[in-house]
Amino acid sequence: MYKYNHFKQQKGTIFLKKITTKFIREKKNSENVYKISVLTAYDFPTAKLVDECECDIILVGDSLGNVILGYDDTTKVTMEDMLHHTAAVSRGVKRALIVSDMPFLSYHLGEHKAIENAGKLISQGGANAVKLEGGVEVANIVQAIVNAGIPVMGHIGLTPQSVNQLGGYGIQGKTESQANKLIEDAKKLESCGAFAIVLECIPSNLAEKITKAINIPTIGIGAGDKCNGQVLVLHDMLGLCGGYVPSFVKKYANLNDDIKEAVTQYINEVKSGEFPQCTS
Ligand code: KIV
Repeated sequence: MYKYNHFKQQKGTIFLKKITTKFIREKKNSENVYKISVLTAYDFPTAKLVDECECDIILVGDSLGNVILGYDDTTKVTMEDMLHHTAAVSRGVKRALIVSDMPFLSYHLGEHKAIENAGKLISQGGANAVKLEGGVEVANIVQAIVNAGIPVMGHIGLTPQSVNQLGGYGIQGKTESQANKLIEDAKKLESCGAFAIVLECIPSNLAEKITKAINIPTIGIGAGDKCNGQVLVLHDMLGLCGGYVPSFVKKYANLNDDIKEAVTQYINEVKSGEFPQCTS
């Protein structure tokens, strides 16, 4: 049951060893080792479940704006939202590395403000690292946060916080110049100290090129099978809540239907008096 030798045994009790950014970085160079699994979670019960399944990284994504708060996009998510949900997640997690998204405009108002906000996600939220969107243009910010002792995960390709600039959620990096820019972004993020980079919605061959060009792991979402790991939004892969789900998402469950069936059964049983059953 306990795989990959990432566990400590002490006086007959097995303790799960906490995943660290060092462990994630080292995945890059270990041949024939399993790929890095990443899922989002936004609350205590789902974080606990995902952690108990031994997912390596739990991302408190700002996708919570879409799947939890019902917004159209992630630009409405605030630091308060991220702190609230990150703290709930961290109460449910023992093993996974917790990465918390820096929300829209929380890292664009100068290095000082960015470090302050990243620091809050760590010290108040209980995250182990932060993620922020962008490449060369946020390099100084990534460097400053890393210099403050906070691990940073990069995120390039489709960067949803820039939806108004990108004009939608389409595939990125299709032209040669866009592809070259993304390779440059990845190299820059690595040189600034990022420990891993999310590659979102880019062609598989470009994701492979980027993965080969850098010495830190790449985590793909809609970026093919050549990345060092994969991430999905939990609610999308569980078929929970509906709304638009990108075509690259594999649905591992259909919880919408399961929940509706259970709730309808409860309502019918209350109406008919079948529940509760009196035992005395
Ligand atoms: O917010 C999020 O869930 C993300 C992932 C889709 C990578 O950034």
